Amino acid sequence: MKIGIFDSGVGGLTVLKALREELPSVDFFYLGDTARVPYGGKSKETIQRYSLECAEFLLSFGVELLVVACNTASAYALEALKDKLSIPVIGVIQPGVEKAIKISKQKKIGVIGTRGTIQSKAYQKLLESYGAQVFAKACPLFVPLVEEGILNGTIAKSVIEYYLQELKGKIDTLILGCTHYPLLKEPIKQFMGEVDVVDSAEAVAKKVSQIARNEGEGNLRLFFTDNSPNLRAMIRLILGQDLKFEIVPVLCRL
Ligand code: DGL
Repeated sequence: MKIGIFDSGVGGLTVLKALREELPSVDFFYLGDTARVPYGGKSKETIQRYSLECAEFLLSFGVELLVVACNTASAYALEALKDKLSIPVIGVIQPGVEKAIKISKQKKIGVIGTRGTIQSKAYQKLLESYGAQVFAKACPLFVPLVEEGILNGTIAKSVIEYYLQELKGKIDTLILGCTHYPLLKEPIKQFMGEVDVVDSAEAVAKKVSQIARNEGEGNLRLFFTDNSPNLRAMIRLILGQDLKFEIVPVLCRL
């Protein structure tokens, strides 16, 4: 079984990690669009075009299922991808929402993400369709914080407080609606106190494992569109090891 997974950059490696834990025998092809990251502040049209290009690149390896690890791309391009592709396409929003609805007792649910994800209202509409009361907040400084490796300490704590103060006391469940946020899960949990934190990466891995076959050689190929200075360090930080990766500056069929 070959599964393709793409993200705007390195953050989607959190989703890849969770997927490999669930499906260790599957062959994974990961594409991080590091040349064009971040997607979080770009228009819908641009995000759709980038997403279709990423998908087309991964299809050239014969992937049988596509995971859109990026929340912003899931918010803006999932339907376009489903329309164009003949393989199953799974985004991160539905699995994250389903998990939050399942565990939330009061159905007072917070969701945090990039400006694009929050402005798209994709999470809010889906949560509301299940009858939840939704509190959404864009946290644009979280992505650069993680990219700088600032995952705890006073700076991380004050940025978390700056964004999440207004959600405190209002919600019983919080969805981490961005690839990078699972790396800030511990300080977020500490700040929010008695709140269940839903990691979309884990939720999507569980969902994919229900429909994919755990068959293959367990191989992994990592592709990025730019060899950014912190790429190697981010791979080590998220996957816990140094791994070989390939640079594909132009996304054309191989
Ligand atoms: N991958 C993006 C997401 O999950 C975060 C980084 C970006 O803005 O591209 O929304």
